[in-house]
Amino acid sequence: MARSIAIDGPAGAGKSTIAKRVAKELGFIYVDTGAMYRALALYMIREGIASDDIDNVVSACKRADVTIKHENNEQVVYLNGDNVNGLIRTEEVGKMTSAISVNAAVREKLVGLQKKLAEVTDVVMDGRDIGAVVLPNADLKIYLTASSRVRAERRYKELVAKNVECNLEEIEKDIIDRDYRDMHRELSPLKQADDAVFFDSSDMTIDEVKDKIIELYKGV
Ligand code: C5P
Repeated sequence: MARSIAIDGPAGAGKSTIAKRVAKELGFIYVDTGAMYRALALYMIREGIASDDIDNVVSACKRADVTIKHENNEQVVYLNGDNVNGLIRTEEVGKMTSAISVNAAVREKLVGLQKKLAEVTDVVMDGRDIGAVVLPNADLKIYLTASSRVRAERRYKELVAKNVECNLEEIEKDIIDRDYRDMHRELSPLKQADDAVFFDSSDMTIDEVKDKIIELYKGV
């Protein structure tokens, strides 16, 4: 049976960086489920579909083909055959993603793909509902968070490094709004699974968290 580690938590807690390092060290595949939701959101934007236009969101889910492949240790997301990795990290796509991920058809489609993937491959999968819904029998479940200020500061530094004009207060406000939506939606809200191990990365380095996770996994 394939082995799996589930990592859930809010945006900017360091999930993807940590999950990638854990996967590399264990020889597992890293699966970024947020990127799959983002690709579907990009499809809605391209088609001019509003997030609250339920009928059109549902029918768009049938037309949009989201696939992920792993090339040179990087996850590549394809939307109807095109590599969209470079297009899904904008704030516009981020907002649309959090808005459409409340929709049952969206979740059903992507959760199905994620479960299938984990049946045949050893994975470290990160997202919001991995421990609770996608991999309820994961070998190890982690809930990783950090204060909204620390997460905003990390995002601010990333944007400044890319010469993107931005405002720390606004970034923190967006993070708080997105957390609220993700935690209070009816379907698969973000919350710590009962059997997940809690980490706050506000005062821990990426490698400290990574080492702890490996230690926990090996102790399983
Ligand atoms: O992880 P990332 O920030 O890329 O996720 C973007 C959005 O996708 C989240 O804010 C959340 O609304 C949604 N998402 C989700 N379930 C997942 C992964 C992401 O609802 N498993």
